[in-house]
Amino acid sequence: MDLFDSAEISLDKTQEAKRRIDDLRFDIMRHNALYHTEDAPEISDAEYDLLVGELEKLEEEYPQFKSKNSPTQKAGAAPKRGFETCAHKVPMLSLSNAFSDEDMKEFVIRIQKFLGKDEFIPLYGELKIDGVSCALHYEGGKLVKALTRGDGKVGEVITENVMTISDIPKELPEGFPQDIEVRGEVYMRNDEFEELNASQTEKGSKVFANARNAAAGSLRQLDSKITSERPLKFFAYSVVDGRIHGFASHSKELDALDTAGFALPPEAELIEDEVALYKHYQRILTKREQIAFGIDGLVYKVDDLKLQVRLGFVAKAPRWAIARKFPAEQVTTVLKDIEIQVGRTGVLTPRAVLEPAKVGGVTVSHATLHNEDYVKDLDIRIGDTVFVERAGDVIPKVRSVVEAKRPDGTVPFEMPKECPVCGSHVVRPEGEAATRCINHLDCPAQVEAGILS
Ligand code: IVH
Repeated sequence: MDLFDSAEISLDKTQEAKRRIDDLRFDIMRHNALYHTEDAPEISDAEYDLLVGELEKLEEEYPQFKSKNSPTQKAGAAPKRGFETCAHKVPMLSLSNAFSDEDMKEFVIRIQKFLGKDEFIPLYGELKIDGVSCALHYEGGKLVKALTRGDGKVGEVITENVMTISDIPKELPEGFPQDIEVRGEVYMRNDEFEELNASQTEKGSKVFANARNAAAGSLRQLDSKITSERPLKFFAYSVVDGRIHGFASHSKELDALDTAGFALPPEAELIEDEVALYKHYQRILTKREQIAFGIDGLVYKVDDLKLQVRLGFVAKAPRWAIARKFPAEQVTTVLKDIEIQVGRTGVLTPRAVLEPAKVGGVTVSHATLHNEDYVKDLDIRIGDTVFVERAGDVIPKVRSVVEAKRPDGTVPFEMPKECPVCGSHVVRPEGEAATRCINHLDCPAQVEAGILS
């Protein structure tokens, strides 16, 4: 190959990279709006992280295309229509992600180098709550204003809604700074989220893909009466300008928040060496299913606030903190078919046949659809893009449908009128969820399953 050819090829590669960068930016901004503004994501968090990772890598490789307007340089998305907005005094940033022990090691070395130190910098490890960030402004000891993160610079004013959340102190006790901004996460417990979804289904109202969307959708209601009926909770994770308020470390700041009546995320730990860092992650990962609310990882923060100030920030994230992400428990994929299984007792169970997708660390190609009502209530159709969830060892389930991605020509699900195994009639007695094959003695599925069990 002569010089001319190789120059041409590399120009092509550069042009191709630019095109990909533009596409990724457009897609990511669209997904930001769907997630932050509409509370109706079309892709899972893990799929979103992959897009951002690819864009970051390309921007690194082709620095000539870096831009202030790239979504890699900005947090969140525009405010929702109908809400008053207000600028944050200190921007609400996001966190850089780590996906492995190696990524964590890099983080540890990066901060050591930046600070010119050889020893491990103590980190405070805490749960990364999968909720909605919220800033609480107190003046003269009273809660006067609450804001969402918004685009990181300007948030939505949600004071009235936040006033309905019972575990947020409306007044601060004496001895705690009276003019202060407390930040944290509004979330929903898993059991209360399931109850809310069940009652939404019953009412024919919107079903949420996960507890985070439910929390976000509930918090950002224009009518605070609706918010007051939703089981929202709050965990505090920091105060703004902690050092100015006299706190020496992040952990001391949290102790004071605890004394002031704020709920704090459990399972936090001061990490004093690298081994403890990996152990903490493993310990929480193994007990993830026992935790009553959704977490999408852990956050590690330099504990010493003086060092935090020295470390400062990069574009949209602090240099002094990192999010260690857990394997995703949700993914979106295409529902290729709905097959009907016949069990030992003759119950017909619809089962999703999926385009194989990795979720919770394994590749999943089937998921439960429970029964006829479940499929009909969620209006799950063959061809739909669906959110599939696999938490711990639990059987994967189809959670919800991405209606915006429904192709033309789909039809609502109908339970078969005959047993797909023996061809006999099936019945669904009034008031029951289960449909059964009536041919107890001769249906091969029932006989075979009976022998097998
Ligand atoms: S500290 C400078 N601590 O994660 C940002 N954030 O991607 C400092 N989050 O928007 C945030 N749990 O809403 C922090 N224990 C925790 C958290 C936490 C959840 C959220 C937060 C932020 C997002 C960062």
